[in-house]
Amino acid sequence: MIQQLSGFLGKPQLYASGTGEFWDDAHISKGMLEAHLDPQEDGATRKHEFLDRSVQWISKIAPPAQYKYLLDLGCGPGLYAQRFHEAGYSVIGVDFSRRSIAYAKEQAIQQNRDIEYHYQNYLTMDYENQFDVVTLIYCDYAVLPKEDRLVLLNKIYKALRQNGKFIVDVFTPSMRKNESRTWQFYEEGGFWCEKPHICLESVYQYDDEDATELRQCIVLTDESIDCYNIWDHFFSKEKLLLEIQTADFNGFEFYGDAAGKQLTDDGETICGVFTK
Ligand SMILES: C[S@@+](CC[C@H](N)C(=O)[O-])C[C@H]1O[C@@H](n2cnc3c(N)ncnc32)[C@H](O)[C@@H]1O
Repeated sequence: MIQQLSGFLGKPQLYASGTGEFWDDAHISKGMLEAHLDPQEDGATRKHEFLDRSVQWISKIAPPAQYKYLLDLGCGPGLYAQRFHEAGYSVIGVDFSRRSIAYAKEQAIQQNRDIEYHYQNYLTMDYENQFDVVTLIYCDYAVLPKEDRLVLLNKIYKALRQNGKFIVDVFTPSMRKNESRTWQFYEEGGFWCEKPHICLESVYQYDDEDATELRQCIVLTDESIDCYNIWDHFFSKEKLLLEIQTADFNGFEFYGDAAGKQLTDDGETICGVFTK
């Protein structure tokens, strides 16, 4: 055990894999779903009043009468998707959390909403000229390494019809954390594991071109050691624009958040609206 643990204690190589799944883990996804459904929480999704404002704003800049077909990437339990449907869009949601997709499908049946949900990694999707709007909301684009972001961008571009819009938000460098190391004992179990566990959490910064950040959580129980590596990146408007321009988008608009706030120099997020 000590031997195995000592292997985790140095700074990991860039993009070293962890041992555990994150979004699709049977226990973690339970806590994630609860966090999504709490209207006042800002953890897994934003507070639900923000979701309402966000969908209102998107319905203004891409009205469902002209932009009918919407693809919501990383749709989670469908909180945006059901609001988009309510606003008049025809919606497909994609997510790779089994628990979230099962919940979203159940809700759609209960509420008699004709929304399609797919359990899929969006890096493997293959749509062509099908959507008027593609959304990827709550800063998930930037968790991917640049190579994967470019693959995803091209898939999104291909999925859009001409004049279709890609709406995406990212964190700005103001959200980078300081390097740190903390540990905590969860006697009754908790977010990472249902058994009593200790979580050793470290934040590492890398000086690669993409200024990558890693939040690493090592979860120790009596019997096991798991390691979760959560990578992240941060964008200025210029960095986001340069990257988006590698696909063939024609129109570029920037806002301060995914509800259309005005962009400022000191904001925590940037939301881009990119037109094919
Ligand atoms: C931060 S949550 C945001 C959920 C939703 N967009 C919202 O704002 O309410 C990110 C979601 O993206 C999903 N996700 C992350 N990477 C994914 C991938 N490569 N393919 C499909 N879904 C992914 C996760 O399972 C999770 O439900």
